[in-house]
Amino acid sequence: MIGVLVSGAGTNLQALLDAGLPVVAVASNRKDAPALARASCPTAAFELADYPDRPTRDAAMADWLETQGVRLVVLAGYMHLLTPAFLDRFPDAVVNVHPSLLPEFPGAHAVEDQLAAGVAESGATVHLVDEGVDSGPILRQERVPVLAGDTPESLHERIKAVEHRLLPDVVRDLCAR
Ligand code: GRF
Repeated sequence: MIGVLVSGAGTNLQALLDAGLPVVAVASNRKDAPALARASCPTAAFELADYPDRPTRDAAMADWLETQGVRLVVLAGYMHLLTPAFLDRFPDAVVNVHPSLLPEFPGAHAVEDQLAAGVAESGATVHLVDEGVDSGPILRQERVPVLAGDTPESLHERIKAVEHRLLPDVVRDLCAR
């Protein structure tokens, strides 16, 4: 039973849904995240401003996901770091998708950073989540070429097309373990 955390458009959430994976709950750090509208299962928002601190917010989010029966958590464009108050509740069962060949180019601006650095090759990575910024053990990666004239938008679209295949594949394998 999969819980998905989102902050933005939710195209990776859509890929998980389209793959027929058992997504039972979707949570966000933003009430207005467009991704929330994609889900037909229960959704909830846990905005930091509504809690005294991040661990309290993370514990509330973990409580809610557990109530929904979640055993595996997928970060699909979730843009906040998770504290041990969350991660300790789902040991080795939180995964993230990131638009670079980690450990190169972690962080929120990975696509722009890769273009600024002039790399010839980008990629998509699915990894286990720890307390660091995109730093947990890598589960799977795939290369994506950078083309002449690429903009952040065009490169990100090409990476996302790979993410939408890679993420459901890895999640399906994790569900089967
Ligand atoms: C993806 O590129 C993902 O790798 C990164 O944020 C983006 C989310 O896109 N962490 P979406 O919300 O799934 O469309």
